[in-house]
Amino acid sequence: MRPPVIESIKIENYRALQNVEIDKLKPFTVLVGPNGSGKSTLFDVFAFMETCFTSGIRHAWDRRGGLRQLRSRGAKGPVSIQISYRETPQSRLMTYRLEIDEERGRPVVSRELLRCSRSPGPGRPSHILDFRHGDGDVVDDETGEIVRIISTGATNLR
Ligand SMILES: Nc1ncnc2c1ncn2[C@@H]1O[C@H](COP(=O)(O)OP(=O)(O)OP(=O)(O)O)[C@@H](O)[C@H]1O
Ligand SMILES: [Mg+2]
Repeated sequence: MRPPVIESIKIENYRALQNVEIDKLKPFTVLVGPNGSGKSTLFDVFAFMETCFTSGIRHAWDRRGGLRQLRSRGAKGPVSIQISYRETPQSRLMTYRLEIDEERGRPVVSRELLRCSRSPGPGRPSHILDFRHGDGDVVDDETGEIVRIISTGATNLR
């Protein structure tokens, strides 16, 4: 089984990567740039995501010194990571976006979005998951119906 393939990545306010978009990624991609330009930071973005999903956002966030260290110096707004990928070469292009901000010294997910590059059918939403501060909906990819509306409140995400 071939793993899903990332085609593009967009990063905002993650350390040296204040506003970076890399598209047309290939399975073999070489990053070239001067010292301190953010090459290792790009790899840390993937490590950050992995820790978020395995150990939790709080762990990934605190380990990197929180918003003070993580957010690009002088920037405003959340730390944001957006990845577009295909499960298989024939699959629709999927886009996952995670935005993290900080409230009272703790990380909060201000936005989490999973959507298809094109709507699965007429009148159907293109998103599969869309949350803002813990409120949002999940759409059944088969029927296009909104199957769950979850209201956890941002406090529960900490
Ligand atoms: N919060 C931040 N805002 C802006 N820049 C930051 C922030 N945190 C770290 N940096 C900068 O990121 C740079 C380090 O980036 P990184 O280690 O990814 O570079 P690199 O391209 O891998 O460099 P090298 O070729 O030396 O390995 C440093 O210049 C540092 O000042
Ligand atoms: Mg480096």
